[in-house]
Amino acid sequence: MCPPPTPPGPAAGADVERRDARHKVTGTARYAAEHTPPGCLHAAPVPATVARGRVTAVHADEVLRLPGVHAVLSHENAPRLGEPDDPTLAVLQNDRVPHRGWYVALVVADTPENARAAADALRIEYAPEEHDAGPADGHPRLYTPEEANGGHPAVRERGDFDAAFATAAVHVDATYTLTALHNHPMEPHASTAWWTGGDLTVHDSNQGSTTVRNVLAELFAVPRERVTVAAAHVGGGFGSKGTPRPQVVLAVMAARHTGRPVKLALPRRHLPAVVGHRAPTVQRVRIGADAHGVIRALAHDVTTQTSTVKEFVEQAAVPARVMYTSPHSRTTHRVVALDVPTPSWMRAPGEASGMYALEAAMDELAAATGLDPVELRLRNEPDREPDSGRPFSSRNLAGCLREGARLFGWEDRDPRPGVRRSGDRLTGTGVASATYPYLVGPSTATAHAAPDGTHVVRLNATDIGTGARTVLAQIAADALRAPLDSVRVEIGSSALPDAPLAGGSSGTSSWGWAVHRACTTLAERLRTLTGPLPPEGLTVRADTAQEAGKESPYARHAFGAHFAEVEVDAVTGEVRVRRLLGVFAAGRILNPRTARSQLIGGMTMGIGMALTEGSTLDTRSGEFVERDLASYHVPVNADVPSLEAHWLDEEDPHLNPMGSKGIGEIGIVGTAAAVANAVHHAVGVRLRDLPLTPDRLL
Ligand code: MOS
Repeated sequence: MCPPPTPPGPAAGADVERRDARHKVTGTARYAAEHTPPGCLHAAPVPATVARGRVTAVHADEVLRLPGVHAVLSHENAPRLGEPDDPTLAVLQNDRVPHRGWYVALVVADTPENARAAADALRIEYAPEEHDAGPADGHPRLYTPEEANGGHPAVRERGDFDAAFATAAVHVDATYTLTALHNHPMEPHASTAWWTGGDLTVHDSNQGSTTVRNVLAELFAVPRERVTVAAAHVGGGFGSKGTPRPQVVLAVMAARHTGRPVKLALPRRHLPAVVGHRAPTVQRVRIGADAHGVIRALAHDVTTQTSTVKEFVEQAAVPARVMYTSPHSRTTHRVVALDVPTPSWMRAPGEASGMYALEAAMDELAAATGLDPVELRLRNEPDREPDSGRPFSSRNLAGCLREGARLFGWEDRDPRPGVRRSGDRLTGTGVASATYPYLVGPSTATAHAAPDGTHVVRLNATDIGTGARTVLAQIAADALRAPLDSVRVEIGSSALPDAPLAGGSSGTSSWGWAVHRACTTLAERLRTLTGPLPPEGLTVRADTAQEAGKESPYARHAFGAHFAEVEVDAVTGEVRVRRLLGVFAAGRILNPRTARSQLIGGMTMGIGMALTEGSTLDTRSGEFVERDLASYHVPVNADVPSLEAHWLDEEDPHLNPMGSKGIGEIGIVGTAAAVANAVHHAVGVRLRDLPLTPDRLL
């Protein structure tokens, strides 16, 4: 069982400025590509220009004569790696090209410019093979996998969906599509690596250096204790840095091959092919309800795609197992392996995609039953998690919907679509729910008390822009019952005690638990200490492997509700979000400043998903077309006029000592549906394919 949350100390919930704020805005915070050891060389990778086939020749000799070029690595001469668990890391190991953009060579030179020029000039010959880049929908090789991402069973059935749907009073049967979406962190993936004898040191941009350290040790057959991976500052990840990526393997290879430090910063235009993406989905949602809008039958069928390198199945049907009353339910995933880049995690994988479709379908059900969309959701609140039958540890969706409606001014809403017109402008409002699971993992941490009254907390947590350093200091200060400024937090290196990644919105809960325990134990020791603290101080180590890995008898999720107001230009088809307001219930909020930043960041990304972010896979070339920020449109300030994130105070005794859920991902969940539902309310036409770009509106 989980310990109940301790009463909050003065630091928990305080509006504390980020500890690294000044370093970041003054440029003294150094990122992976900003370390330049003496003698450092620069590497540029070469992506395949065919969608499938074999490399038959690498004309390395031609570029080795170019200025500053030190080495050309390919499958012909690259160091042999151990077998990786993640096959996307087996770079330059054989002549196979599994998709366009797969790395087939690496050029190492004295400057980034010379490396890039030589990489561009490198002639590679291929034996191309016929490729199949989709589309996935209706593909003859579609199959039902064992599991979807996150270990969820691909198929779940309860009751008799077909019979219940057939006899329901009201029906919704709609199919929604999402294109692939791409992770574009401000800081593209980068690594700087060097070997000192048998010791490997790497600065790598990632969401968890413990895993990167472990994987590199395996691949390069060195003991873990001889590998150090640091990620002191990371300019965003969104899941694309949750696992080691090819750049770190290539940089380490090149450093071994040349005997020099090597730096490798991926160009942004490479990211879509090599760091994962949100897989495109086709989602059919069927809901059968009684005349009062109470759901009897619900089916969510997801079709998606993966690569031939690795099976990754976007778990978009999973939130339908959590959200609403549904005595008869079927949720399924089907996938096809194509000659395309490998999809992976992107902020709220599964929930972001699936809740777009489910919450758009709920809006269609509201229209079909004549019920207000908030009221419809309230009528379908389950008293237990529908899929598992487990009680919720806490579920405040209803509270989020009610509070959001109040803050937004929902009660005056005219439900009729397409009637609010002023000149060429149509306006509308929409609502959608949000959910994200509470995840937590085992972590270790140490806490140290020095004789001068200061404290040091150490663990390999990663601050990917979230404010982790700051929040961990707050947790430590309260557990120590010490002033916040007496606590120093050291994170961001695998030389520190092992800790899990910044992913699955689990960082604060996982790391914080270990920090809380180490600091509580230390405070206890200090209280019972007889005599003065020894000159070397006192250090305690905590490990939460026992508790944090345990199954809970409770269904544990964060919930939220988004309310959007949009304006649609009937002449140009342009959609503008005028207001977006979210209310969340995510356990105890430990720092309102960094929490708000996480939530509105997610909501902004949701606006992108709804309106501007779209990706085209050219099935002839096997290549994603939009590979830069000029063509892949991430929302900018002008796209986001008013954004409000609120939260309910939620006391949940079944989580961890801080009482925290996660807030990194829930902000993006349901946002696109709220916007799309508002667009329907504005124009009166149901558009089911995102993004809602002007061409689709007209
Ligand atoms: Mo998140 S997609 O778990 O970084």
